[in-house]
Amino acid sequence: MAPTSPRKILVTSALPYANAPLHLGHMLEQVQTDIWVRFQKSRGHDCLYVCADDAHGTAIMLAAEKQGITPEQHIERIRADHERDSAAFLIDFANFHSTHSPENRYWAEEIYRRLKANGHIASRAIIQAYDPEKQLFLADRFIKGSCPRCKTPDQYGDNCEACGATYTPADLIDPVSAISGATPIEKESIHFFFRLPEFESMLRQWLDSDTLQPQVANKLREWTDGGLQEWDISRDAPYFGFEIPGEPGKYFYVWLDAPIGYIASFQNYCERTGHPFEPYWLPGGDTELYHFIGKDIINFHGLFWPAMLHSAGLRTPTAIFVHGFLTVNGTKMSKSRGTFINARTYLEHLDAEYLRYYFAAKLSGSVDDIDLNLEDFVQRVNSDVVGKIVNIASRCAGFLARGFDNTMADECAEPALLADFIARGEAIAELYEQREFNKAMREVVALADRANQYIDEKKPWLLAKQEGAAGEVHAVCSMGVDLFRVLMTYLKPVLPAMAAKAESFLACSLDWTGLQQPLQGHRLGTFEPLLTRVDPKQVEAMVEASKAAAPAGSAPKTQEPDLAATIAFEDFAKVDLRIAEIVAAELVEGADKLLRLTLNLGDSQKQVFAGIRSAYEPAELVGKLTVMVANLAPRKMRFGVSEGMVLAAGPGGKELFLLEPHAGARPGMQVK
Ligand code: 2FM
Ligand code: ZN
Repeated sequence: MAPTSPRKILVTSALPYANAPLHLGHMLEQVQTDIWVRFQKSRGHDCLYVCADDAHGTAIMLAAEKQGITPEQHIERIRADHERDSAAFLIDFANFHSTHSPENRYWAEEIYRRLKANGHIASRAIIQAYDPEKQLFLADRFIKGSCPRCKTPDQYGDNCEACGATYTPADLIDPVSAISGATPIEKESIHFFFRLPEFESMLRQWLDSDTLQPQVANKLREWTDGGLQEWDISRDAPYFGFEIPGEPGKYFYVWLDAPIGYIASFQNYCERTGHPFEPYWLPGGDTELYHFIGKDIINFHGLFWPAMLHSAGLRTPTAIFVHGFLTVNGTKMSKSRGTFINARTYLEHLDAEYLRYYFAAKLSGSVDDIDLNLEDFVQRVNSDVVGKIVNIASRCAGFLARGFDNTMADECAEPALLADFIARGEAIAELYEQREFNKAMREVVALADRANQYIDEKKPWLLAKQEGAAGEVHAVCSMGVDLFRVLMTYLKPVLPAMAAKAESFLACSLDWTGLQQPLQGHRLGTFEPLLTRVDPKQVEAMVEASKAAAPAGSAPKTQEPDLAATIAFEDFAKVDLRIAEIVAAELVEGADKLLRLTLNLGDSQKQVFAGIRSAYEPAELVGKLTVMVANLAPRKMRFGVSEGMVLAAGPGGKELFLLEPHAGARPGMQVK
């Protein structure tokens, strides 16, 4: 039974970066949030879901520049795409705003002032890498160079995609700015810091308060136990964001104003609609606040954010609900396998509700990763939703329309069965509340099995042919339709469009609050097909289309490089490995770890920069053989173009072994 006084609930999901289209990882989170919000509404609560685009930062500034447009134009374009895709996935935002908004500027400045007034802001000079050409401080990911471990060129400043090593940009061999190609210099500037260590005891209490899932609290305790560090909240101009009040040329770091975007979006909603604002953000009220996020951003939401809110005299969240990453067919989403799927690509081939159901059938309250197995997806949607749920209505609707003026019987044929279906509602509601959607779906499907079993036993299609059995046909089919009503009420948070069609067929609204009212003597509407089967060909077409469509912008969190993943045989087969003879080797000025090699491939010569200087003097190399990747796209390096890679084996340093000359190994020979 829903409580008599509605809860006042504000819900958010993470603000997507306004730099790339939404992909299925985003949709997992938005669908999870949306199901929970729709469930709360169905229970009669006042529940609002707000979101926004996360619109600031260097990456967005540079992406706009590359396209020759302003950052404002860039984020507007992306926002339109994001809103369109979320709407197509039936995400029921009360408001979708932007962090680049007047409300967000107001709250970012206001919170900063409060933090400062409380003595929670420090400032000091720090030294950072700086691009002297572009006149820009460089975050680690904007510095490239050769990996200090495996020497692969063109690696980003914090980790190597080839060997998985992690390091700091200072360790890179021959670092260059990924933006201009210039060699970074070190430069000092004043930064502003949020004094997180001041909040240690507040955060320890918060972590012990059952506000977070146990795994999340444990992970965050690693930070409190390891000693909290001050958090750098400023960036130097040029930067796309909000200038810090009273500090010309200094901007709020994107992660400072991103969560404040939750407040801003809600304020924008309240101003548009007259809804009360303050009770949701002041401590001690009877409102509830929940953030749905992925597990990669728990430090921002579970440490920095509550500490900032606390200092600013605002309420902290009632709970933070963290989910795992989305994998597809068991591995990280991958462009080459066609499993990095943009929301739009999915929608061009498949119905949003298929995925909403599949996600619901997999989601739980834990932080475990969720796998979208494409075969299982087809099978599960077709079997559960189309084969079981839709089937109940389609088996009964025709008889009622043809023989009984489309009107339900006056009495319930099996009151105990109906009562049982309704009684399961409380357990199912509790599962929804706890975000155990997978268990809720299992309950619903088990009930659907029972409803189908009931119809199978009664066989209205045979009764309809018997003299004098019309009353029974009417009773059985009315019963089937009423059971369908109950099941669709349970499924409405997951399948809102299908539920809307069911509502027009049933001529009633399907909310938890109306669960107890059977449809007796009730005139039905027209039955329209509710959902068709998933065609596996559409799934294949989506995968093919995803192979073709590379995501724009920065790599989203669920699409980290496939470091641990295996490569498909076809990927391996693309690598053209050849024996090459080193015909010349020279030192490279300004790069004390590299050698410029001239390689003879039998019918051609190639120039390669190789990081093997530590093991060989140039003269020793001439005449030696090596295996080279002959079809690697040429890369422009600071010293010239490198036209391939040479393979050497060994731990590094002095021990890097090439091939010894062998009579049978001829330059140009393919390595099998
Ligand atoms: O990780 C991300 O995609 C961020 N844009 C999420 C921000 S959530 C909130 F803090 F704004
Ligand atoms: Zn490496």
